[in-house]
Amino acid sequence: MMQKLHFKCFLLLLVLIFVKTSAISSDLITNIPNRKTTSLNGKWQYIIDIYETGFYDYRYRERAEKDPEAYWNTDVPANSLDRKEHGYNDKYTLNVPGDWNSQADKFLYYEGTVWYKKSFDYKKSDTNNKLYVYFGAVSYRADVYLNGKKLGMHKGAFSPFNFEIPSSLLKEKDNFLVVKVDNRRYADEIPTLNTDWWNYGGIIRDVSLVEVPNQFISNYFIQLAKPHTKSNLIEGWVEVKNAKANEEVYVEIPELKINQKFTVNAAGRAEVKINAPKLKLWSLENPKLYQVNISSKADKVSEKIGFRNIEVQGEKVLLNGKSLFLRGISIHSEIPQEGRRANTQKDANQLLGWARELGCNMVRLAHYPHDEKMTRLADSLGLLVWSEIPVYWTIDFTSDKVFEKAKTQLDEMIDRDKNRASIIIWSVGNETPVSEVRTNFMKNLLAEARKQDPTRLVSAALEVNYHSEENMRWIDDPLGAYVDIVSFNQYLGWYGGTPESCRTANWGTHYKKPLFISETGAEAVGGFNADAKQLWSEEFQEWYYKEQVDMLKRMPSNFIGISPWILADFRSPRRNNPVYQEGWNNKGLYDHQGRKKKAFYVLKGYYDELAKKYK
Ligand code: GCU
Repeated sequence: MMQKLHFKCFLLLLVLIFVKTSAISSDLITNIPNRKTTSLNGKWQYIIDIYETGFYDYRYRERAEKDPEAYWNTDVPANSLDRKEHGYNDKYTLNVPGDWNSQADKFLYYEGTVWYKKSFDYKKSDTNNKLYVYFGAVSYRADVYLNGKKLGMHKGAFSPFNFEIPSSLLKEKDNFLVVKVDNRRYADEIPTLNTDWWNYGGIIRDVSLVEVPNQFISNYFIQLAKPHTKSNLIEGWVEVKNAKANEEVYVEIPELKINQKFTVNAAGRAEVKINAPKLKLWSLENPKLYQVNISSKADKVSEKIGFRNIEVQGEKVLLNGKSLFLRGISIHSEIPQEGRRANTQKDANQLLGWARELGCNMVRLAHYPHDEKMTRLADSLGLLVWSEIPVYWTIDFTSDKVFEKAKTQLDEMIDRDKNRASIIIWSVGNETPVSEVRTNFMKNLLAEARKQDPTRLVSAALEVNYHSEENMRWIDDPLGAYVDIVSFNQYLGWYGGTPESCRTANWGTHYKKPLFISETGAEAVGGFNADAKQLWSEEFQEWYYKEQVDMLKRMPSNFIGISPWILADFRSPRRNNPVYQEGWNNKGLYDHQGRKKKAFYVLKGYYDELAKKYK
């Protein structure tokens, strides 16, 4: 009898462990911008360490934790005879957030390790509270240490992460925070060795300390349920760390006079269902955001959330039941005037402001998750967003480890932005070469995106498989069978043919789905004016866009939009024409100085026409 009882207890324990691990989607703390944080932005001291001396000894063995020559340990000599051959000094500082490449000439092409160090004082407002250090993004690998102890490691250049600071480690004065940042490229990483963008390295987004109660609301997903019904059902979940089963959480939407109680399960998770008949839907014309307050016994977080429905019906994309045409533009997370990663509110205002000047209702944030300020600003401006992970070109599709890395970056992208109404499409990659193993890899990523977030559409930027049938160009990539929107990149008149080629070109897909052009474009050097037949001139790019626009007017009925390549010129190590490129890809409609090129007005004219047609 006793054996049976023990066995049942053992089974129950197993179930509890499984529920706990499977229920908590990740350790990422949601909604940092609206929590009690202390910014660690500013000047950090650094050491360039191209030989990894701070990490390996002279026999190239990883240094022991207490090794005084490890760069995560203090650089202060114990006495006058204590030989220190590393040190952090105000002579050597970098701005955080910021890539290192744009901060000094010696860093422009640097690929390797830079050790960052920041000292800070901190006293918790309540000794029972927890303290985390949060990084908006570090490119590419971050090893984080505090007061000589490793807090954790993160890989992935564009997604946030946080590590808890154990109370035993925290000092009131002079905490020694060290981050080893390594931006080297590898064949088995995401992205892989070659990309058509600059390999910016560094702590490229905000860093903050986040103090939360011991029992805190760590994560939540609050969106309009699918399929959208007239009842405006809001659905989702709330996760509370260290909560006991049946503890209460409240979701309040004051403007709708809603304040509903839910209880968490043993894993600290509460399923949320709220009927909101009076809800005003988020739309392009009226990007309505509601203050949503989520509270538990010891914690309360708030943020503005929009509620809208996005779906595919046949060959159309519907926003709140109304057919959409996406007047998009692709954007890199870069400020052309300074040749640097974008990471401030001013940067987000500039890039999305330019997109609105162009007449866009949508932006493709290529080729990786951008700073969170971009998606939050898109929410308030009423811009639709395509958000993407950098599964780009020739990823190692044969490796399960590489799939796990891609899946982690996909989960982190969705986890951070799952409450952003502006995001309508999760993209799992760009221009990946067709093969059976690749299609399987990408199909599984699409399934993961749908599992993590059933409320949005999924896609990927495909390539065109040209056929010669009467100038008919088919998009028949096998991955098209698994996406909601068949999206493809075409450069007819730049990569192949001339702009005249557009006059006889026809496009189509056998998939009975919406068709979207995720890229098209041609280069032009801002301010270089010549005959339209002169490649690299603004007039050539203008001609290219005129021919493209005429061709777009002949697209099949399932054509639902376009996001030309690209809003602004950007750095690329692959662009080495010594006269017309010099390390820049100049397909921007805005040039290095932030000036509009002639082609800008061609696309704007087309979008203004469409805006009237789709009013
Ligand atoms: C590709 C790719 C972009 C690249 C562009 C170009 O389609 O997706 O990342 O910059 O073409 O060649 O300019």
